Amino acid sequence: MAVVWITGASSGLGLYTARAIQAAGYKTVSGARSFEGKEGESDTGYRLPLDVTKPESMDAFCEKALSLYGTPDVLVLCAGYLVWGSCEGYTEDEIKGVMNTNFFGQTSMIQRVLPLMRENGGGKIVCYSSINGVLSTPFQGAYSASKHALEGYCEALCVECEPFNIQVTLIEPGDHSGGGQAYRHISRGTGADSAYKASFDRVHAVIDHDEGNGSDPAVLGRKVAKLLSRKKMPLRKCIASPDQKLSILLHKVMTGRAFAGFISSYYKVREKK
Ligand SMILES: NC(=O)c1ccc[n+]([C@@H]2O[C@H](COP(=O)([O-])OP(=O)(O)OC[C@H]3O[C@@H](n4cnc5c(N)ncnc54)[C@H](OP(=O)(O)O)[C@@H]3O)[C@@H](O)[C@H]2O)c1
Repeated sequence: MAVVWITGASSGLGLYTARAIQAAGYKTVSGARSFEGKEGESDTGYRLPLDVTKPESMDAFCEKALSLYGTPDVLVLCAGYLVWGSCEGYTEDEIKGVMNTNFFGQTSMIQRVLPLMRENGGGKIVCYSSINGVLSTPFQGAYSASKHALEGYCEALCVECEPFNIQVTLIEPGDHSGGGQAYRHISRGTGADSAYKASFDRVHAVIDHDEGNGSDPAVLGRKVAKLLSRKKMPLRKCIASPDQKLSILLHKVMTGRAFAGFISSYYKVREKK
């Protein structure tokens, strides 16, 4: 039976994905910070505490997970962190916090697991990116940057690992409901006195609406669990509503300026006169 390690399994898409993978019969080890003190069997597999921003925590997770079921056949990286705010107003700590979880948190886990997979003769690495890994949306600049960085890293990784029979897949979800509000912070630099506040509030309302009416995370979880059984995995798998998929197409075919105008109008960045 194949072994899967999954991060960010305590909430949102990671939780639903871990549940679907466990239900599909994989030997699953799931990690999250809030699993501290809750180690053991569960509907997301064997829970272990994991902080992907802390080297000692990642080392301990890998050591314990290895001793449980041996080398992972699949690594699924869902841990994520979002700070909403203006590009001007983000504090350095906020930008670094987002990059540390969403980008370095994934690269650090990948670097720990790759030698094991190479020795084992192959494996699959599944990284949760986002539609924001392909296009950027207002007041999600740090998050979009972290996901764009991940996409660039994974394109190189995919080519480098192919000779070792290791496949890399980027999951690009559109808006899904069920994510935890605890993981969505508003930047300290976009408060009441910010020049961007009114625009931010309008954009935030659109994002809230889109997330609230987002797709079913359980369906995404099942799609990803099914994907793992494929002999050949795609490099990119966008799981989104038709209109969000259309936005990716528009991003490809429109000029940068025209697409920016489209996004600005969709999110109501400017006040209507
Ligand atoms: N929800 C969506 O609509 C959507 C859309 C596109 C992409 N995504 C991507 O899908 C993934 C999941 O997002 P979500 O919104 O569904 O989840 P979420 O509800 O925001 O939950 C975030 C998860 O990441 C874990 N996490 C955060 N920081 C961590 C750290 N330092 N170390 C280990 N785990 C950490 C959290 O667990 P603990 O706090 O217990 O550590 C939690 O399980 C993310 O990569 C996100 O970018 C989501």
